[in-house]
Amino acid sequence: MAASGISQILGRVKDVFKFVLRTKQRRSRAIEALPSRQYMQTTLIPALAAAERRRMLFVGAQPYNLSFYRSCEALKIGVWSVDYDPASAPYGAPQGHFVGDVKQIGILAPQLKFNVIVFNGILGFGVNAPADAVSALEAMEQVAEPDALLIIGWNPGRTDGQEIAALRPRLTRAVLGDLPSEIEFPAIGVQRDPHRYEIFKFGTTEK
Ligand SMILES: C[S@@+](CC[C@H](N)C(=O)[O-])C[C@H]1O[C@@H](n2cnc3c(N)ncnc32)[C@H](O)[C@@H]1O
Repeated sequence: MAASGISQILGRVKDVFKFVLRTKQRRSRAIEALPSRQYMQTTLIPALAAAERRRMLFVGAQPYNLSFYRSCEALKIGVWSVDYDPASAPYGAPQGHFVGDVKQIGILAPQLKFNVIVFNGILGFGVNAPADAVSALEAMEQVAEPDALLIIGWNPGRTDGQEIAALRPRLTRAVLGDLPSEIEFPAIGVQRDPHRYEIFKFGTTEK
């Protein structure tokens, strides 16, 4: 093939990569701008800082989480993350990132203890059955301080609710400042289902 033919093909490949990258960046920005995501940034993070919850495990890492980490950093909340997809590693949290299943977090991070765990967008996005959700919960409890908060964000419609239903009896509703212990945002734009946050502590009795 002539050199000009090769450079034409390379040019096309480059254009396709640029297009894919721009599409991903647009999607990330659209997700970051969602009311449910803005709630995390502008309401949850300041409330966590005010409550001195400064050691966070964040489950699942995506490009649209980078601004979340920055907001945490600005309020002196240290964030570690875990994701079983090696491709997510570049979007891991600043304090440390573990490549692996959250169901193994006790083995991946045996030396760490967290006083808040954010388990958002995982039910129906990888943890898709009640038994799996319970295994994930048991693993997270291994790395949780005794009074740690567990913030579960999930999408009614994305799942039929069986996973969260398996978790609720093992948890206690918790208060974070003056925030409601559960709140739901309606489906909008790139968020095809409602997005619900529920705040808990581990276990069913006060520790
Ligand atoms: C919808 S994204 C949510 C990302 C992030 N938690 C957030 O709130 O923006 C789901 C992410 O969780 C990861 N994930 C799903 N199941 C997992 C599991 N069992 N262990 C670790 N990561 C998991 C996926 O690889 C993906 O990156």
